[in-house]
Amino acid sequence: MEAAISLNNLSKHFEDKKRGLVKAVDELTFNCRPGSIFGLLGLNGAGKTTTLRILATMLTPTSGTAIVGGYNVQTEPDKVKSKIGFLTGNTGLYLRLTPREIITYFGRLSGMDTSAVKSRGNQLIEALDMGEFADRRIDKLSTGQKQKTSIARTMIHNPPILILDEPTAGLDVLTSRAIIKLVRSAKDDGKCVIFSTHIMHEAAAICDDIAVIHRGRLRAIGTLETFRKKYQLEDLDDIFVAIIKNGGAA
Ligand SMILES: Nc1ncnc2c1ncn2[C@@H]1O[C@H](COP(=O)(O)OP(=O)(O)OP(=O)(O)O)[C@@H](O)[C@H]1O
Ligand SMILES: [Mg+2]
Repeated sequence: MEAAISLNNLSKHFEDKKRGLVKAVDELTFNCRPGSIFGLLGLNGAGKTTTLRILATMLTPTSGTAIVGGYNVQTEPDKVKSKIGFLTGNTGLYLRLTPREIITYFGRLSGMDTSAVKSRGNQLIEALDMGEFADRRIDKLSTGQKQKTSIARTMIHNPPILILDEPTAGLDVLTSRAIIKLVRSAKDDGKCVIFSTHIMHEAAAICDDIAVIHRGRLRAIGTLETFRKKYQLEDLDDIFVAIIKNGGAA
């Protein structure tokens, strides 16, 4: 089966005044399959957001290639954009609009007709339990309510590939569960989901494949089962720490 996302020696270097050359992403190579959930784990500053921003065409790589939905992120960014939904911490929400207006706006922007936007919008509002605040202005919403709005915005056009940067960070248990359920159903619909998280039990529960990156480099990649066998540990927390400390090979 053809990969939905394919990275080949992907690197991103930043020139930092104080730190000098920062290899935020350092020769990453891996694939993500359609109909699967791929988890990207790493400490703060490991390079997760930078990687995901390159895949979403928001940043250009220093070297290497990334193919997303069959298109090259550097030479065909518009085609890549038509295949993805991208969620990141600073996804813009217009404060004066309501969640329903934002979802509708982005659905229309991606070429959906009014009735499709309405029915899929209603589906997402229900799936994420947003009914109570869907018609309130964004600037009056809580963090979790805004996050649900961002997720609905990311998914309104039903893209085959979802790129989610810490989708459940800072959310209560019910909100997290609603989002995880939606991610699972996206997978069941055949979509490819790549997401970053610091919440190990979530990654353990839903990821088909897990990659651990450390200082921009791939340290380990596999399924939870292969990690359990290799490291002789049960919890992903412990496995993660072992990989980071021992420098486990990919
Ligand atoms: N614009 C930039 N200029 C210089 N350095 C940057 C820039 N953006 C990111 N970096 C550096 O690149 C590295 C990777 O950052 P990144 O945001 O990708 O990490 P992360 O894995 O998403 O971390 P976190 O878990 O904290 O979100 C860090 O050292 C960061 O300081
Ligand atoms: Mg990040």
